[in-house]
Order: sequence, then structure tokens, then C-alpha cells
Amino acid sequence: MKDNIILIGFMGSGKTSVGIRLSYQLKRTMIDTDKWIEQRQKRTVSEIFAQSGEESFRSMETDCLKELIRQADRQIISVGGGLPMRKENHALLKELGTVFYLRVTPKTVYERLKADTTRPLLQVEDPEGRIRTLLKQRAPVYEACADVVLDVSELSFDEILEQIEEELKKHETISDQRTES
Ligand code: S3P
Repeated sequence: MKDNIILIGFMGSGKTSVGIRLSYQLKRTMIDTDKWIEQRQKRTVSEIFAQSGEESFRSMETDCLKELIRQADRQIISVGGGLPMRKENHALLKELGTVFYLRVTPKTVYERLKADTTRPLLQVEDPEGRIRTLLKQRAPVYEACADVVLDVSELSFDEILEQIEEELKKHETISDQRTES
């Protein structure tokens, strides 16, 4: 297994913002799968959804993970909210490193994203209902994929970072013990 830090969670859970701060703090570079795909495709996620469809985007996410397994180590990787939904991606995430699930409530997501136009899945008449439905379907999958679950709706960035660092120390201790025995 590689030594990356992977951030998963619903849209608006703060993966990218937390990832950027963590990257400064731990002096590790950060990769965002949406940005990675956009750069390769020279199109935005919204354009990819509109022109090629969601399934094509999902395949691009899997390709991205496979490429990161070849290239990335000791990095922070923030992944798109739907990426863990593909079963095939679970083993790839595990192989990439320690997976942190940033868990948020539907209310928090709605408040953060009600004015956002960049998430194609939320450009519907009832975004709040959509958030609740998707989150209900996805929560058990995020939980199953995660090594660590953090409830972040009520936490400041500093508190989230502190908790992640504490968990990383625990994981390091566990893997040190494994290497010794
Ligand atoms: C999606 C989440 C988005 C982006 C795309 C689809 C999803 O990423 O990958 O709009 O299915 O939840 P963020 O979680 O970074 O917003």
C-alpha cells in the first residue's frame, strides 16, 4: 500500500479546502481528481457531463486512480464525491493509502452549495431533495471505503486538520508495529 492521504466525501464536504491546508501543513503536494481530469480533458467537469455523459466521466475517474497508483506517493489526494460509488475503485483507493471520509449533514451541503453552478448533479429543481437522496445512497459506501470517518459539519478547518494528524499518528504507530513483528 502507498502512503498517500485520500480524502473522500460528498460534494461540499470540504475535501479540496481541507486538502490544500493539509498540503501546506504536511508539506506534501496535493492532487484533486476533478482538476486532474479537467486538465487532461481540457474541459470542465460540467462540459464532460454534458458532452460525454456521466458514465464517461466515471471511467475517467477510474483511469485517474490507476495512473495515481503508478505515480503518486506521499501526496494528498482529494477525490470527486461520486468516485467511491464504483465498486472497482474501492480496491484502488485502498491501494493508494489511508482513506479519510469527511462526513457532513445534507443541511450543511445545501447551505454551502445552494449558489453553486459547477456540480452538474445538483442543477435540478430540488437540489436539497437531491442532496438528501444521494447522500442516503452514498453514506454506507463512503463508510465502507474509509479507514477513518470524521464528522466535520461542526468543525473548523484547524480542528479537522488536528483530527487528521492525530489519526495519521495512530496509523503510523500501527504500521510500525506491523513492520516490527
Ligand atoms: C460529483 C462530485 C464532484 C464532481 C462531479 C460529480 C459527485 O466533485 O466529481 O460533479 O457525483 O458527487 P466534488 O465532490 O469535488 O464536488
